Amino acid sequence: MARGTSPLPETAVHAPYGPLPDGGAVRPMTRWGTPVMHRPQQPVTSYDDALRSLAADMVATMYAADGVGLAACQVGEDLAMFVFDCPDASGERWVGVVCNPTLVLPEGRDRRLDDDDEGCLSFPGAFVPLARPDFAAVEGFGLDGRPVRFEGDGLLARCLQHETDHTLGTVFGDRLANRARKKLQKQHDAAAEDYREDWPTER
Ligand code: NI
Repeated sequence: MARGTSPLPETAVHAPYGPLPDGGAVRPMTRWGTPVMHRPQQPVTSYDDALRSLAADMVATMYAADGVGLAACQVGEDLAMFVFDCPDASGERWVGVVCNPTLVLPEGRDRRLDDDDEGCLSFPGAFVPLARPDFAAVEGFGLDGRPVRFEGDGLLARCLQHETDHTLGTVFGDRLANRARKKLQKQHDAAAEDYREDWPTER
């Protein structure tokens, strides 16, 4: 998920399951319209060095693109995994890797919607509001295959939902009404020059 205009706060970083893997390579961002982004991803079954290496590439790519979250399909890989480094409503950052994510959303009276801007690194340069539950939890597995659970509010709640959507082959444009979708497309087209084909790699 794209960060938008808010800077990544210089606050405490919470990494309950360890820091994000580093040393990865920045890869070109896969864009909406590429088939891998529009079908459910394959589950992760091998928690090996190749998975860790892919996660490291995803982290490097996310930071190069000023993102707060990135799914494997966004670097062209058909695997249900995402990484994130995203502030919650209080501005504190949470980082993690989630394989085979399952979303847990509030129901009934606990379900409140937050209608805020959202943007996707795979459709860069465009942001429109999308109403989503204002709190989300995600359960899955870390790079070592052990269970993980993250939860939060604010941008983090939005991010956990947006990235889990990616692993299911859903992009946030799929959740927009026609009018909002057209607005998003317009912004994206207007910004196209800023995001050449191999963005965010360095030439
Ligand atoms: Ni996205």
